[in-house]
Amino acid sequence: MAAYTLKVRRYQPEATEDEKRGAYWESFDVELDPTLSVLDGLLQTRDDHDGTLAVRCSCRAAICGSCGVKINGQSTLACKTQIGEAAAEAARLSGSSGERGRNAQDIPSSSTQRSGGTGREAEDPSGVIGREAEDPSGVIVVEPMGNMPVIKDLVTDMESTHWEKFRRVTPWLLPAGPPPEREYIVPAESMVDVTQSVACIQCGACVSSCLSMEADPEFIGPAALAKAYRFVGDPRDGQTTERLFDLANDPHGMYDCTHCFSCIDACPKGVAPMNQIMRLRRLAGDEHEIRDVNNGHNHEMAFVKNIEKKGTLDESLLLQESYAPGVKGKLMPRVAAIKGLLQSLPTAVRGIRTGKMRSVPKLIPGVHHKLPGDAQGHVKEIYERAEESRIQLNLYIIGEGGEEDTSAEAVEPESVSEESATA
Ligand code: SF4
Ligand code: SF4
Ligand code: FES
Repeated sequence: MAAYTLKVRRYQPEATEDEKRGAYWESFDVELDPTLSVLDGLLQTRDDHDGTLAVRCSCRAAICGSCGVKINGQSTLACKTQIGEAAAEAARLSGSSGERGRNAQDIPSSSTQRSGGTGREAEDPSGVIGREAEDPSGVIVVEPMGNMPVIKDLVTDMESTHWEKFRRVTPWLLPAGPPPEREYIVPAESMVDVTQSVACIQCGACVSSCLSMEADPEFIGPAALAKAYRFVGDPRDGQTTERLFDLANDPHGMYDCTHCFSCIDACPKGVAPMNQIMRLRRLAGDEHEIRDVNNGHNHEMAFVKNIEKKGTLDESLLLQESYAPGVKGKLMPRVAAIKGLLQSLPTAVRGIRTGKMRSVPKLIPGVHHKLPGDAQGHVKEIYERAEESRIQLNLYIIGEGGEEDTSAEAVEPESVSEESATA
């Protein structure tokens, strides 16, 4: 047994005491075997110290998806996170080589301690929300999931941010033609493509960590889009083009994802939602030639072409190439291209003002800033190497597996997500 401190972000809307109005932090000391989970620590807190602590859970085995929270700033499942590891991570984040917790005998007689600081949200240099300079090393910070309204303590309202969006993607099979006399039979290999998205347990950890959703709460989001791929990739579904068209032409649809990898890090089941979103995009833009309302496909292509050719991003060419690709596009721009370019002007001006785009003279096409040494050459080499490895990565990046990709090893979700994450 070891002792641990859980610093929990609390919110008790029914509270009448002044110090409990709004959100506040409260610390609790618990004693547990290090191999038990943070959820076990929270349940011990509720049972022994404060029966008003609200936490949602059911299976305690990473199956039901109920116990999503943030631990040390990372969205995850409380029941899948060992408390000893969480304390070690907390110590690492606070920059200390300190012990994981304290020995059981060091626990003060009152094992529940209010940390003070009602309504405060401190951010330490390690970037973990809730950690404060005076916190002892190894304090595990537990918060409700992000991007969702908090109902009470660690319980969030997943209806508007998760379930509503989940229903938005029509998460059921829409088969073509008359139903068969018995079940729909498909070869097992043809389901390999959707194995990863089938593994989702709807915990919302990816939604909680999604950076695009922070900027645009209407973004359909990683969990719902991963589920959309589950049916787009199902050989029995008869509405593939319609589904892709719908998701591409929703201004808050699949092109809202900024490839930040956060959902891949957060997902406890190896679903890798970002990869599923990339596969939706490839299918829509390349195979079904769907041009989306946000010009996302053309922008992505222009971005890749630009860096591949120059070894760095030439902002002066990016917008024009996105809206008016190629020589023909520039000589005879479509009305939609001119309109799109004009609409992008405020973004370009903002980019110049914030320094994201380079100084005005360097925005002249061809007068592009050169990186020191042969940095641009190295980037071009990376592109060539990536192109050579493309077949290997096809299965989970663009959904076109070669024969070797259908091996059991390639199908295993967790290993695949790691491979994809390094791509
Ligand atoms: S990769 Fe895309 S969907 Fe995933 S968290 Fe980042 S922005 Fe959201
Ligand atoms: S994709 Fe992963 S993180 Fe997102 S809801 Fe499903 S299981 Fe949870
Ligand atoms: S309690 Fe079911 S996933 Fe954690």
